[in-house]
Amino acid sequence: MKNPEIAPADGKLGILLVGLGAVSTTTIAGVIAIRKGLARPIGSLTQMGTIRLGKRTEGRSPKIKEIVPLADLDNIVFGGWDIFEENSYEAARTAGVLEASLLDQIKPELEAIKPWPAVFDQRYVKRLDGPNVKKGKNKKDLAEQVRADIRNFKKQHRLDRMVMVWCGSTEVFMKESAAHQSIEAFEKALEANDPAIPSSMVYTYAALMEDVPYANGAPNLSVDIPAMMALAQRQKLPVVGKDFKTGQTWMKTVIAPGIKARLLGIEGWYSTNILGNRDGEVLDDPESFKTKEESKKSVLDYILQPQLYPELYKDLYHVVRINYYPPRGDNKEGWDNIDLVGWLGYKMQLKIDFLCRDSILAAPIVLDLALFLDLAKRAGMSGIQEWLSFYFKSPMHAPGLYPEHDLFIQLMKLKNTLRYMVGEELITHLGLEYYD
Ligand SMILES: NC(=O)c1ccc[n+]([C@@H]2O[C@H](COP(=O)([O-])OP(=O)(O)OC[C@H]3O[C@@H](n4cnc5c(N)ncnc54)[C@H](O)[C@@H]3O)[C@@H](O)[C@H]2O)c1
Repeated sequence: MKNPEIAPADGKLGILLVGLGAVSTTTIAGVIAIRKGLARPIGSLTQMGTIRLGKRTEGRSPKIKEIVPLADLDNIVFGGWDIFEENSYEAARTAGVLEASLLDQIKPELEAIKPWPAVFDQRYVKRLDGPNVKKGKNKKDLAEQVRADIRNFKKQHRLDRMVMVWCGSTEVFMKESAAHQSIEAFEKALEANDPAIPSSMVYTYAALMEDVPYANGAPNLSVDIPAMMALAQRQKLPVVGKDFKTGQTWMKTVIAPGIKARLLGIEGWYSTNILGNRDGEVLDDPESFKTKEESKKSVLDYILQPQLYPELYKDLYHVVRINYYPPRGDNKEGWDNIDLVGWLGYKMQLKIDFLCRDSILAAPIVLDLALFLDLAKRAGMSGIQEWLSFYFKSPMHAPGLYPEHDLFIQLMKLKNTLRYMVGEELITHLGLEYYD
């Protein structure tokens, strides 16, 4: 397969964030602080990651950003929507993730990023309500207003390209329905104010219509419906989702492949979390939690393949809980108890206690996704970008395929895609030639 031509990353890249909450403001403040030399981009593959090229004997391991043209952090401009009127400085203070001593050093830049009025309906996020909300005669009209925001942003900052990342709250659990099946049905449903179209889909539609690639950081359907897939294909745009893989699920996709690699059985996996940020508050609503639960639970089934190993995993009892607990703010604590079965059926237990910081883990993911999506578009890649599954709890995939959840396979896929993009040999790890 011939590698694609990649257009250069010249000019400015606009990153549109839906929701200026904890994750978004931690991303924005982080990029500004890094740009000013006040902090380092720890956790970001695009900024710190290297990639081996050629044989192990060649000793070639450049940085990823040296082999593919990625937008420079200096050329990024942020914009976004929220239902609250706070600017990014105030929103970052409210989120309480980053210390005031850092935020105060970049206060003017943060204050300049003020949220545009949101498309919001409490029917889809029960625990929230805010004043900064658009009014329109129907959802089509609201989509037109979002499109106008996007065009104004582009003009105002003289942007060359844009990407959109959903960092808004998790919406209630919804299933695919008739309104989602084609572009025509979707557009009719927009005009008819069909309840099957939650706010997130209004933004997704607006982004794709404005030629903007889209990433979905939450577990809501959003771009993951046939109508949006058709629109992405028609517009030749890359899209990706769902639900950033940050704390406990990231750990699960590290540990579970290790247990399975040794063919140890698992009787039960109990996961529980406490967190006290706004995300935790939204997820305290059973309908929003259901969306999250579905996203978190499917991981083990796909990694462990109980259909291939029924004696080891068929009866696995998997429980996931999230409890809203305000004293911890964004500093989540996630516990896992894994009941293992070893040689001759002897039982063991593994306990994990991860004292993590949700938005500190999510921010580098937002940045990487924005830069890689922009790269994909310049490389002419459209539709679902499976090579970015690495970043998601519920990776989107082609119909008929199962998603790949194992973090190490996902990383290999990501790096092989980059090698393919620049015409380098793919790495299979066969390595027989070293012993000839
Ligand atoms: N932090 C993580 O580790 C992580 C991991 C996976 C997924 N997520 C998801 O990322 C999203 C953001 O997380 P967060 O911690 O920043 O939450 P947050 O509550 O701090 O921020 C979300 C923001 O979105 C806004 N919002 C909600 N609906 C909106 C709409 N329709 N339009 C515009 N703004 C809207 C809210 O007002 C809020 O400010 C959540 O859906 C969360 O589930 C986060």
